[in-house]
Amino acid sequence: MKTYHIITIGCQMNKSDSERIAACLDNIGYKKTEKREQADLVVLTTCGIRQSAEDRVYGLAHKIKKENKNAKVILTGCLSEREDVIKRLKDKVDIWLPINQIINLKQILTDFDFRNTKINPCDYLKIKPKYTSVFSAFVPIGNGCDNFCSYCVVPYARGHEVYRDAEEILNEVKDLVGQGYKEIILIAQNVNSYKSKIRNQESGIKNQEARESNYIDFSHLLRLVNSISGDFWVRFVTSHPKDISDDLILAIAKCEKVCKHIHLPAQAGDNDILASMNRKYKIEHYLELIKKIKKNIKSELPVAITTDIIVGFPGETKEQFGNTVKLFEKVKYDMAYIARYSPRYGTAAEKMKDDVTAHEKRKREEKLMKILKKIALENNQKYLGKVVKVLIEGQNKKGFLFGKTETNKIVKFSGDKDFVGKFVDVKIEKVEEFGLSGVFKKNY
Ligand code: 5AD
Ligand code: SF4
Repeated sequence: MKTYHIITIGCQMNKSDSERIAACLDNIGYKKTEKREQADLVVLTTCGIRQSAEDRVYGLAHKIKKENKNAKVILTGCLSEREDVIKRLKDKVDIWLPINQIINLKQILTDFDFRNTKINPCDYLKIKPKYTSVFSAFVPIGNGCDNFCSYCVVPYARGHEVYRDAEEILNEVKDLVGQGYKEIILIAQNVNSYKSKIRNQESGIKNQEARESNYIDFSHLLRLVNSISGDFWVRFVTSHPKDISDDLILAIAKCEKVCKHIHLPAQAGDNDILASMNRKYKIEHYLELIKKIKKNIKSELPVAITTDIIVGFPGETKEQFGNTVKLFEKVKYDMAYIARYSPRYGTAAEKMKDDVTAHEKRKREEKLMKILKKIALENNQKYLGKVVKVLIEGQNKKGFLFGKTETNKIVKFSGDKDFVGKFVDVKIEKVEEFGLSGVFKKNY
């Protein structure tokens, strides 16, 4: 029996894509192996968001053919249609595979050049994935992005936004919950743009609101997922600040299974930089959203807010960066993913002068990180002495169990390994900037 090995670089979407590729390969008789050097087929699911992710792909592609010259190498993901990458790795990769072509994988493996040009870009999401976890699952609700932020490669790499039918998504979630899954993570590049036409008039998802518009939007989808019976959490990423409606905030507030955590990438705190990034909102709008979120989404603990930031975007002055510092002080984020700007092939910003030095970018990143740590620690103080529900994800090398609260805080405690994949209550006794620890109270 032929074997395959998959290497995934990058985001949740790529992880989810790899789960579908694994399912396709299983279905055509391949067997998964952890031993890359012995695999007949090595799949690289690639990411081009940042230069560092891309560099990892170059390193790996060279290594794979060296250690296993008989392996067929498939490259999919963000870099699979980039002409410069194809030229650079032409001797290291056998099959360049746009992700939505994986439904034809069997045919492609015998005829490397076969491509179905009439394909619906969402069809591959119908493939039932080989989920990596037995308790937490990514469920893609769409693919692609139409926003064209000037620094970002995703709209070129993944193409236009397409969304899955609500019924298909709901069926996948029902299936997972039926199997005992405890966490459903709805993913798309911009979940708030979700739109699905109701096709089946008889379906149970047609309520008054949908009947009037004949469309389901993201807040409606969240309510529908929330109404599936079972003990599970719902998370979603990523939200774009220009598309968050009052109704969505209300849906998050009211749906008891939807985790009280919003990841809301700001990218910058300065209006001129936001305009140059083509983000299509002003910082006043972003702050207004944060105010509404904090006011309306109430649970026992404050709603958690996390973000993505780019420092050193072309032309960002010290003063403009100062506005991002002010943003951090105002919002009081629980976590922020801070990236130093790097020019990406084919994007609008690639043509702008990358004029903030590497040293200055690092300094700005360090400054934000320092503020973040201080604020995140202050936020976490509110957890001291509280009993919180945690979904246990695993056991670390020291024997401690770890998992997350619905507010996405990592919690560590001593407990029985059998609790992995289950909900438990933990009393928090110690807090750090990015983690909590405590003692086991009860299981469910
Ligand atoms: N340089 C640095 N960071 C980037 N991101 C996207 N493109 C770039 C780039 N060219 C960051 C953004 C985005 C996250 C996924 O990656 O912050 O939200
Ligand atoms: Fe990239 Fe902007 Fe689309 Fe996010 S919204 S994927 S940052 S273009």
